[in-house]
Amino acid sequence: MSKIIIANWKMKLSLEESLRLASAINLGIKKIKSKNKVIICPDYIALSLISLSLNEPSFSLGAQNCASKLRSAATGEVSASSLKELGLDYVILAHSERRLGQLESDKVINEKIKMALEASLKVIFCIGESWEQRRTNKTKSFVIKQLREGLKDVKLKKGSDLLIAYEPVWAIGSGRAMAPTEASDLARIIKLEAEKILKQKIKVIYGGSVNRENASDFLKEKNISGLLLGGASLEASELLEICSI
Ligand code: PGA
Repeated sequence: MSKIIIANWKMKLSLEESLRLASAINLGIKKIKSKNKVIICPDYIALSLISLSLNEPSFSLGAQNCASKLRSAATGEVSASSLKELGLDYVILAHSERRLGQLESDKVINEKIKMALEASLKVIFCIGESWEQRRTNKTKSFVIKQLREGLKDVKLKKGSDLLIAYEPVWAIGSGRAMAPTEASDLARIIKLEAEKILKQKIKVIYGGSVNRENASDFLKEKNISGLLLGGASLEASELLEICSI
């Protein structure tokens, strides 16, 4: 079955590196004829250049964030509608690096999700527990709280308009991925809760230290519909290897 592979480049590449990597991935996906849906999320500047320079790209493009308002005196922000105007399909929201680094609250995240959907972007909504929450057995209650607050009063036209990325914070960039069977179990719980809230079929993907060695173990799990990759998406050969699973 076809899966969703999302590359989150964060702020890890120079503009030139982003353009080079995008073009290598574009050619590579065409060559391997990947059956998976691939979504590349560069920083804003690379995003606009890539979207304007690639003709019939072999992947979809997504942003790593958007503003919670449509138009406002919000210096440095980019609105969901401008991203849509650029031709984007997706936006990652609520990544833990934004929740923690930019102090994004569940309330702001909820506003961003509504704004992105209104602009007809598909949302990749990130949730996940910290190591402390895991250690004290609060994983399940915490991710359910993130879901309920982030998705409060959210109405979807189609289930495919929103995708949940389950990313345990302690697994991101640490080299310590969650065991695939445990991730699958949590994905099942998250899916059930999200479907109850949204009244649509919802897909859940996993992220956190996935690489070419462990990717197939996650993709084998039936509750896991795809992967959100950070480090493993920064090199064309590793990303393409994962896309060809
Ligand atoms: P990682 O990052 O694959 O480098 O752990 C994942 C993410 O932050 O989305």
